[in-house]
Amino acid sequence: MTAMNILAIETSCDETAVAVVHDGSKILANVIASQVEIHAPYGGVVPEVAARSHIEVIIPVIEKSLASAGLSWDDIDAIAVTKGPGLIGSLLIGVMTAKTLAITKNKPLIGVNHTWAHAFAAFLTEKKPAFPMLALTVSGGHTTLALFSEDLNRKVIGETLDDAAGEAFDKVAKLLGLSYPGGPALSKAAENGNENAYKFPIANLGKSSFNFSFSGLKTAVLRQVQQITGVSPGASEGTKSYKLDSQAIADISASFQKAVVTALVRQTHRAYLQYQPKSVVIGGGVACNEHLRAEITAVIPEAIFVPPILCTDNAAMIGALAYQMSQKDIASDPLKLSANPSIEVI
Ligand code: KG4
Ligand code: ZN
Repeated sequence: MTAMNILAIETSCDETAVAVVHDGSKILANVIASQVEIHAPYGGVVPEVAARSHIEVIIPVIEKSLASAGLSWDDIDAIAVTKGPGLIGSLLIGVMTAKTLAITKNKPLIGVNHTWAHAFAAFLTEKKPAFPMLALTVSGGHTTLALFSEDLNRKVIGETLDDAAGEAFDKVAKLLGLSYPGGPALSKAAENGNENAYKFPIANLGKSSFNFSFSGLKTAVLRQVQQITGVSPGASEGTKSYKLDSQAIADISASFQKAVVTALVRQTHRAYLQYQPKSVVIGGGVACNEHLRAEITAVIPEAIFVPPILCTDNAAMIGALAYQMSQKDIASDPLKLSANPSIEVI
């Protein structure tokens, strides 16, 4: 096997990211231009604003990444790009840039699934995952349990029936009046709270199901908040923030976090016992959560967590999965690759 440097591009949401990854495991550069501050006043990502910002910074970010790796285009063996899922306007900027570069620089092109790349970021850690690999991907857009075979065949064994775990964190944080993005703010608030202060529901979807559901939990939190504040359920309830004292915010945060983490740990542990994989990896933005890390480690000590810096959106994870794909001769035609906001394939 020859050594391989992959330049990877990620623009599926609100981060313009470009990385250079060597042999699928060593990060030579990992540049991320975040748009968090641009979207913060709106309390969420505005798709058109995100796409416009990607156009403005993509070329400088590519140049910065190559410079930071100390490499030139001659040293790059392939270009990888997120082809989906994500916001179509954002994805298009990365895909069009990658296709153009693949053609003009004469490099192979690898179109990568963002959701699965979150799990394959685990290959960028010291402890390399083995196949069959059980992957829990928990992000703002996805909550999925999947099994990957050596030849990268993927079988989804569980997924959310409604909100993603990160989405639930973000929505509950918003109604508690916490800052955007909600997950980190809510888990920080939870540090000073009593996780047994409120008993929130954990969906039970049956003995044979590895699925998740967080919408009932979210509604239960809303009703609790309305009860505390004396506000009766109203039409604009999903978008409103409520005024609570800091102890109530901390207690609700801790109790909510406990319910989400219990659901994630329960299903992952059950899947681990049933499928007996050779490795278990946990990635995606919510995998930054310390409480989740501790609870999964308690039942699956060998679980591999993606390092926090690589849990949220980045391009190194795209390079990591692209490398595994290249080893199986999976590549894309630069003239035909298209962005797909809702792909499920690898
Ligand atoms: O993977 P990611 O950057 O974007 C998607 O592909 O969706 O994940 C972002 C999500 C957000 O919902 C954010 O609130 C959540 O990850 N998140 C957390 C934490 N840090 C980020 N959720 C819970 N606890 C955290 N510490
Ligand atoms: Zn993501």
